[in-house]
Parts: sequence; C-alpha cells; structure tokens
Amino acid sequence: MDSIQSLIKNLADQHGRKRESLLPIMQAIVEQENYLSEYSMVELAREVDIPAADVYGTATFYSFIETKPAGKYIIRICKTIACAMKGKNQVLFAIQDMLKIKLGETTPDKRFSLLESNCLGWCHKAPAMLINNEVYTELTPEKVREILADYMKKNGQN
Ligand code: FES
Repeated sequence: MDSIQSLIKNLADQHGRKRESLLPIMQAIVEQENYLSEYSMVELAREVDIPAADVYGTATFYSFIETKPAGKYIIRICKTIACAMKGKNQVLFAIQDMLKIKLGETTPDKRFSLLESNCLGWCHKAPAMLINNEVYTELTPEKVREILADYMKKNGQN
C-alpha cells in the first residue's frame, strides 16, 4: 500500500464510506497533498466503493477542491526504476532545496509545482524530468540547479 492509499484508507475509516463522506475526505487529501490527483480520486473511489466518475464529478463540482497542481511551471520528476537507479533522489533533493518545497507542493509565488511521474520514456538518458512539456535528461544536482535558475530568471518576464 503506498502513502496515498494508506492516507485515503485512514480518512475513510475516520469519515465513513458514504457519499457524504467524499467531501470531507477530499478536503483532507488536499490539505495533505495540496491537490487531488486523478490517482487519489481513483483510489478514493475504490476505497469507498463509489464509481470513479462520481468521485470525479464531486471533486470538479466544488471549485475549491484543487484538482490540478497550481504552479505555472509543473515539474514532474521520473520516479521509475532507471531514473531511481541513476540518482533521481539527489536531483529531487536539489530541486526541493532550491525551491523550498516538497513533492506535491507549490511555491508560495505559484511559479513551481513539484510532482513525480512514471517513466517518461527517456530511461536511456536517466534521470529525466519534465517542466511543463519540456524534457530534461541526464540530470545531476548541478544541472538541475542551472535549469531552475534559468526558469527563475524568467520570473516576471512571462
Ligand atoms: Fe525514468 Fe524511464 S525510468 S524515464
């Protein structure tokens, strides 16, 4: 069971597994994760035994439930095996350190959100990440710091 699954299970234990439990559970997930991902919605649907489409409908009905990460630049770092073995964690630490946010969070100025993703198809040049639709490969802590510094310079220009 991954951390989202156990979070959702605990919340369902606490709030119940009825339709009216959805809203408080979703709010609690957003509190923890900063937004409600598709993955969380699917897991929540499974946990409370309500169709995923209904969970999705409830989430999007309430505009205060954030279903998308809020940053202008969405960083998605690959967490799959090739990248994990090639130093993805050091790269992730460098990003967290530089932006002062953790995975799942958005910087207070709403410039950057930091997420993980599954294999991006660049395993031969691992570790890899996306910033919006741009792919960056063969990352090292130094390289990622330079990339982010460039994005930070764009601040205010677009
Ligand atoms: Fe990271 Fe494939 S494992 S890009």
